[in-house]
Amino acid sequence: MGDSPVVAIVGAGLVGSGWALVFARAGCEVRVYDPDEPTRSRLPAWIEASAADLESNGLIASAAEVIGRVRLCESLPEALDGATYVQESVFETVESKTAACLAIDKAMSPQTIVGSSSSGIPASQFTGNCRHRQNFLIAHPVNPPHLVPVVELVPAPWTDPSALEQVRELMNRVGQVPVHVRREIDGFVLNRLQGALLNEAWALYEEGYASLADIDATISHGLGLRWSFMGPFETIDLNAPGGIADYAARLAPLYYRMATQRVPRKWPQETIEQAQAERREVLAEEDLAERRLWRDSVLSRLAAFKKTNGLGP
Ligand SMILES: NC(=O)c1ccc[n+]([C@@H]2O[C@H](COP(=O)([O-])OP(=O)(O)OC[C@H]3O[C@@H](n4cnc5c(N)ncnc54)[C@H](O)[C@@H]3O)[C@@H](O)[C@H]2O)c1
Repeated sequence: MGDSPVVAIVGAGLVGSGWALVFARAGCEVRVYDPDEPTRSRLPAWIEASAADLESNGLIASAAEVIGRVRLCESLPEALDGATYVQESVFETVESKTAACLAIDKAMSPQTIVGSSSSGIPASQFTGNCRHRQNFLIAHPVNPPHLVPVVELVPAPWTDPSALEQVRELMNRVGQVPVHVRREIDGFVLNRLQGALLNEAWALYEEGYASLADIDATISHGLGLRWSFMGPFETIDLNAPGGIADYAARLAPLYYRMATQRVPRKWPQETIEQAQAERREVLAEEDLAERRLWRDSVLSRLAAFKKTNGLGP
């Protein structure tokens, strides 16, 4: 793919715009295509503000240089012209992904590799009819990708192992942290872990054990502090004198008992409405966008802290 490949971003919503910054700050020429006019007109100001934030936190040397590498294109073929890597970030439906991938497949060169930002739909559900389907795989980021570096690489059964290897190298080179999910599963690893936590959080809230705010505080002032620099296995390895096996000997029966107390069920609509009302009391709907900027600014400072303390990618 070369040291600084030309990268096409297809779909420039929340995630696609973050991807544009990931590649541009690493020195790649980035071509962005999104047919939605409001999304297109929002992009330049968002890139400018986010690049300025990265610069002020010492995460990039020059915002102007990064901004100069991002070009908004009028059509998909224009965005793909000369691109050796494509990051697809359209809506999370099989229909939308299938249409976008077939269009990319038609316009791309046979050497181009395509990573899909799909949050949980495996690539085999939407790339099967592509001529170059061996070049397609999942490259699932976390939002926003320019501030949360992990990216799950999940091959379809027909993905060429060398395509996977090239995307792994590219992600390392641009400062992301690739994680290899060896075979397809709904939700991959990240959203399965998040799903386990969310399912339990909804149940505890519905059953009245704690308020939304207190459940959130349990993570933001509790578990989340360690999780921002170590995973659950390392966490428990340090939480018993004899390490992970000692932890399991002491606490596995409790975890098993908790697991037997739950049966899978849908998140109840009534509980969702109650949670929505509770959240909108503390954060009005019109303030969501500003709060996202606040979140990104905290993440920027956290990324700067991790970088200067040897905890970064
Ligand atoms: N939001 C998140 O937290 C998050 C995190 C990780 C991955 N993802 C995944 O990233 C993808 C995008 O999610 P998002 O949150 O950015 O959604 P979004 O709604 O913000 O953006 C999707 C964009 O895709 C554009 N689009 C639709 N069809 C297109 C096409 N054929 N060609 C070009 N552009 C097209 C739309 O105009 C829209 O701007 C989804 O697969 C999603 O699951 C989202």
